[in-house]
Amino acid sequence: MKVALITGAARGIGAATAMQLAGQGWAVLAVDLAADDPALPYPMGSAAELSTVVTEIRQNGGTAEEFAADVRDRAQLAEAVGEAERRWGGLDAVIGAAGVIAGGVPLWEMPPEQEDAVLDVNLRGVVNLARMAIPALLRRPEPRSGRFLAVASAAATRGLPQLAAYCAAKSGVAGLIRALAVELGDSGVTANAVSPGSTDTPILAESARLYDLPDAQAFAAQQPVRRLLDPAEVAAVLAFLAGPDSSAMTGAIVPVDGGLAL
Ligand SMILES: NC(=O)c1ccc[n+]([C@@H]2O[C@H](COP(=O)([O-])OP(=O)(O)OC[C@H]3O[C@@H](n4cnc5c(N)ncnc54)[C@H](O)[C@@H]3O)[C@@H](O)[C@H]2O)c1
Repeated sequence: MKVALITGAARGIGAATAMQLAGQGWAVLAVDLAADDPALPYPMGSAAELSTVVTEIRQNGGTAEEFAADVRDRAQLAEAVGEAERRWGGLDAVIGAAGVIAGGVPLWEMPPEQEDAVLDVNLRGVVNLARMAIPALLRRPEPRSGRFLAVASAAATRGLPQLAAYCAAKSGVAGLIRALAVELGDSGVTANAVSPGSTDTPILAESARLYDLPDAQAFAAQQPVRRLLDPAEVAAVLAFLAGPDSSAMTGAIVPVDGGLAL
């Protein structure tokens, strides 16, 4: 059985990815902060939501465990990696989907604790995940097919006003993935990312609030497909990247954005 560790798995894109991989027979360690972040004015995924994801996977005959961890904390991520290896014998895919948003004002007016949360979770959190989890991917015997995957954003390539720290973090993730791909070289482990467009999750609802829009549906008009994406549509591409058919891809930042970045 292949083994995946997914951060941000309590809801949204991370939860959808956990369900898709579990449905394809993967064992999934579903990792999330599972608590609110005092620096941010909107709720994070809860412990109850994380449990529900795992319960649903099991009810559908899949294999999953929940694990509460903050991606800003290297020791907690090391424990999560150790848990996956102990429980299922190794690690084959690591997917960093945990993320937060804040802004709504020019960067220089942003409360410093919100700037820290955006940079520390969205960028440092993925760097931490790479540091703590890639060695486990490399502990698999050759020939390897390990996958390190991150969730960047259309904000990695577009300059979005009032979201400067978020844009900085997401383009940092893209740079990290490109460099990791080269560092991993011929190891058999690859590094790729997806860059979602406006996807119907609580982060998008918070983005709408930051822009004083009535609700997240307002973002549909900006996207050439003229609708919001479903988290399952982003998860489908992450599941493809986690699987054997993406073996020729490394260092790719794949837009899954309904054309938003065009
Ligand atoms: N929804 C969109 O439109 C969109 C677009 C582009 C990129 N993204 C990215 O997709 C990823 C998933 O976001 P989503 O849309 O599913 O939003 P979401 O808010 O539904 O999910 C994010 C999850 O990350 C968790 N999390 C937050 N801080 C954490 C921490 N410090 N440690 C561990 N877990 C933490 C939250 O509890 C939550 O469950 C994020 O990286 C986000 O930036 C989303």
